[in-house]
Amino acid sequence: MKTKSELLLQTYIEKHIDDEPELLTELRRQAHLTLLHPRMLSGHVQGRILKMFMQMIQPKHVLEIGTYTGYSALCIAEGLSNEATLDTIEINDELEDKILKFFNLSEHGSKIKLHIGDALEIIPSFPYEFDAVFIDGNKRHYVAYYEACMQKLRSGGYIFADNTLWDGHVIDEVVDKNDLQTKGILEFNEVVKNDERVDTVILPIRDGITVLRKKL
Ligand SMILES: C[S@@+](CC[C@H](N)C(=O)[O-])C[C@H]1O[C@@H](n2cnc3c(N)ncnc32)[C@H](O)[C@@H]1O
Repeated sequence: MKTKSELLLQTYIEKHIDDEPELLTELRRQAHLTLLHPRMLSGHVQGRILKMFMQMIQPKHVLEIGTYTGYSALCIAEGLSNEATLDTIEINDELEDKILKFFNLSEHGSKIKLHIGDALEIIPSFPYEFDAVFIDGNKRHYVAYYEACMQKLRSGGYIFADNTLWDGHVIDEVVDKNDLQTKGILEFNEVVKNDERVDTVILPIRDGITVLRKKL
């Protein structure tokens, strides 16, 4: 639960950055009306940040784990050149129609290829390396996603991992042994901190975004 001043600051930020494209506002509205966990989608501020990251890196191939509604995928695609591609993987096939509807409505949708299935099974099959990856799937499997992505990430490429502060649970003194999501995030944060193959920072944006750069 955010405090009043956090909410005011959030509104201030939203008013002083690029507007959320109308299509994404509509996607978000529909997600709130029809889906169980609409808070999972990236939202206005993080969406603009993802677009900006892509404009900074100028990747050719991007991978996303966890499409959900397609909100973040559309933000990533917005930041890509017309020659670049985004492969996004979603395990829940019930979301496919909703996702494709908005990809088809977007001028950036043609840059995106949706894969329905388990990211851990699909990632090894890509025939090219990625320049950037956005990890936003099941928090229990972050280490497994990370290892799979590292096999397909070019040297100098970036991984962005979402929710790595997990609503502050990373600093809980006692973690319930049945809370596998918190355990997954804690394990991921330890693994990347101790992995000499990457440079690592955590941006305390929204729920925490870890940015990793695979060393040359
Ligand atoms: C937090 S949501 C993604 C939100 C989206 N990236 C956004 O920011 O708008 C996580 C999604 O990951 C999907 N997911 C979970 N495990 C997965 C897996 N192993 N492979 C692919 N998708 C997975 C879930 O079904 C869910 O839709």
